[in-house]
Amino acid sequence: MRDVPLADTTLRVHDVGGGEPLLLLHGFPLDHRMWSGQEALAGRHRLLAPDQRGFGRSGGSAPSSVEQLADDAAAALTALAPGARAVVCGLSLGGYVAQHVAIRHPDLVAALVLVDTKLEADTPDARAARHDLAARVQHAGTRVLAEAMLPRLFAASAVARCSPQRGAAEALVRAMILGTPVATGTAALAALAARPDMTGAFATGTVPTLLVCGAEDVITPPERMAADAAVIPGARLAVVPRCGHMTPLEDPAAFNALLTEFVDGLPRRERRA
Ligand code: MLT
Repeated sequence: MRDVPLADTTLRVHDVGGGEPLLLLHGFPLDHRMWSGQEALAGRHRLLAPDQRGFGRSGGSAPSSVEQLADDAAAALTALAPGARAVVCGLSLGGYVAQHVAIRHPDLVAALVLVDTKLEADTPDARAARHDLAARVQHAGTRVLAEAMLPRLFAASAVARCSPQRGAAEALVRAMILGTPVATGTAALAALAARPDMTGAFATGTVPTLLVCGAEDVITPPERMAADAAVIPGARLAVVPRCGHMTPLEDPAAFNALLTEFVDGLPRRERRA
């Protein structure tokens, strides 16, 4: 892990491999370990996977907005790979953050991979549900988050439940959720509820974009992501069978193959001046 000091906290960033950087932004309420299935890509890429502020080993200051998390990610990339443009890949919360990195720091981004995420803001009902969940987490701890989220994160079909890596993946996700500080969980829920709609920002096209969705994702289902793919000029959606909301962890081989095929098709990257 590398330390990246920011103005008000220090980010810890998992940094392995070599080559063009691939910035991996985790979902809520997880940390860089959700990308453990992507270590196989370290032969082709330098993998930079921060524990976003408040999460994992970064600890400390809780997040206040997805825009702040995007600025943190940009600062980490600039500090660790000066002059580089990265493929920025984010899952769910990490996908919201990746969208803001692309809009706020376009010089840093060669391409985007949006995984099990969406462009839309929360509906009023979803926002109210997040505030209710935050109140329950404040009262009873992150056990409440595990109970609320775990049943919805993984594919539910019998064939998916029988996959050999399923037990270890669920145990890892449970450990990450239970390890999240209460202050981070409640602050991140407020940040998720307040995030803006990004549909307009992406409608005119920004960077080459791949969307990836688990066929059994019930949080950001394939129909939702297909509608988003239709909004972003030139974007492509890949739907991965037998996966839920945790596609890179549920089927690392399929996910890594999609990512590799996408990156190989990108125009040659110029370094920033
Ligand atoms: C996540 O996986 O990061 C969350 O499901 C994000 C969300 O609830 O919108």
